[in-house]
Amino acid sequence: MSASNADLQQRKNAATPRGVGVMCDFYADRALNAELWDIEGRRFIDFAAGIAVTNTGHRHPKIVAALREQLDRFTHTAYQIVPYASYVELAEKVNARAPGKHAKKTAFFTTGAEAVENAIKIARAATGRPGVIAFTGGFHGRTMMGMALTGKVAPYKVGFGPFPSDVFHAPFPNPLHGVTAADSLKALEHLFKADIDPQRVAAIIFEPVQGEGGFYPAPAEFVRGLRALCDTYGILLIADEVQTGFARTGKLFAMEHYDIVPDLMTIAKSLAGGMPLSGVVGRADVMDGPAPGGLGGTYAGNPLAIAAAHAVLDIIDSEALCDRAAAFGERLKAKLTALRASVPQIADVRGPGAMIAVEFSKPGAPHEPDAAFTKRVQTRALERGLLLLACGVYSNVIRFLFPLTIEEKVFDEALAILEDVLKETASIAA
Ligand SMILES: Cc1ncc(COP(=O)(O)O)c(C=O)c1O
Repeated sequence: MSASNADLQQRKNAATPRGVGVMCDFYADRALNAELWDIEGRRFIDFAAGIAVTNTGHRHPKIVAALREQLDRFTHTAYQIVPYASYVELAEKVNARAPGKHAKKTAFFTTGAEAVENAIKIARAATGRPGVIAFTGGFHGRTMMGMALTGKVAPYKVGFGPFPSDVFHAPFPNPLHGVTAADSLKALEHLFKADIDPQRVAAIIFEPVQGEGGFYPAPAEFVRGLRALCDTYGILLIADEVQTGFARTGKLFAMEHYDIVPDLMTIAKSLAGGMPLSGVVGRADVMDGPAPGGLGGTYAGNPLAIAAAHAVLDIIDSEALCDRAAAFGERLKAKLTALRASVPQIADVRGPGAMIAVEFSKPGAPHEPDAAFTKRVQTRALERGLLLLACGVYSNVIRFLFPLTIEEKVFDEALAILEDVLKETASIAA
C-alpha cells in the first residue's frame, strides 16, 4: 500500500529540517490546471499556483508536449559549454517584449533569488558602484544578497547574518498604513544625506507590486519619483518582476502599467510554468557590464526549462491570459468588496489584474492587523478544499494566485467556498 499523509508527515519531520517550513500536511499526487489531488485522493482547488509559478496551470498540454519533445533531444549540455538555439530565441522574445524600445539583452538563471543576485552583480559591474537600495516589506529571495535586500526580518533573516554590506532600506509606500509615495521618496533623499552618497549607489531595486510583503502596488507617483532620482544620480532602476510577471497583473509585465522603463528587470516563477528558470533582462549596455565568465551557472538556462518557457509565452498569447487575469481579477475583487458589509475584518481589497489581495484587521481599526483571523480563514478554506496563501509583514493578508487558465466552473466553486468561509469566520469572531 502507498504511504498515507500521516505516515509521510512523520517521515518528513525525521528526514528533513524544520527550516524548510511546509504549509500543508498532505502530499501531492497529481495536478491538472487549477486542481490538485493528494495521495489519499482528496481534491483541492489550487489558488496558490506553487507560489505564483503556474499562471498557465498545472501540466498544460502545450508545456507537457514541449518538455517531451525536448526530453527526446537533450536535457543538459551546460549552455556555457555547448549552447543551444532555444536559449538565444527565448532571449530574443523576452528582449522584444520587455518594456522599452532600447536595445536589450537577457541572461537566464535558475531561481528568482539567483536572478536578483545577478541583477545586482550586473548593476555593480556596469556602474562601478557598490550601494544598493531596497524597500521595507520587499522580498528578494533566500540567498545572501536576497536576504540582505529583503525588508522583512522574521523568518527570512533570523540567525543568518552578517549580510553583504552597502545595502540600505527605505519605506515602501503603503497608504493604508500611513506611508505616502511622497514619504517614501523623501526617505530616499534622507538616506542620501544620512547613509550613502548617491554617487556610490549602483541600483534601486523594487517590486512593482510587493509580493510576500502583502501585495501592495507601487503608486505611479512613487515609480516616477524613483526613475527621476535614478536619472539625477546615475543610479540603475531594477524592477523585480519575479512574482508580478507573465500576465499575473493583466499585462505581461507589471511595469507596463507605468509610463516608466526600468534599466533591469528580474524574471522567474511563471516564466517556465513550473520548470526552474529565471532571468535578468535589461539595457544592452548595462547587461554587458560583467566580463565574459562573470555570469552563468551550471544549470542556468536549462534546455527543458527553456522549452517550457517558449510554450508559456505562446499560451499567454493564444489563450489571452492577460485579459483573463483582468476579468477573473475583477470578479474576485467585486465579490470581496461586496463581502465587506458582512465581514467587518476586511480592511482593504486591492491589486492589479489577478494579483489580488484582501487585508484583514480588527473591525473598525484598519491599522490593527488581524493575523489570527487571516489564519482561521486560510485553515477553514483548506478544510473545504481551497488552497489559499497568506502574506504581509503582519501575516494578515490573503493573496490570490489562481492559474489564469482556470476553468470558469472551478473559479465559481472557489468563490462560493471563499464567501462561505469568510462569512462563517466573521460570524464566529463576532
Ligand atoms: C519578488 C520576488 N523576488 C525574488 C524571489 C525569490 O525567488 P525564488 O524563491 O525563486 O528564489 C521571490 C520569491 O517569492 C519574489 O517574490
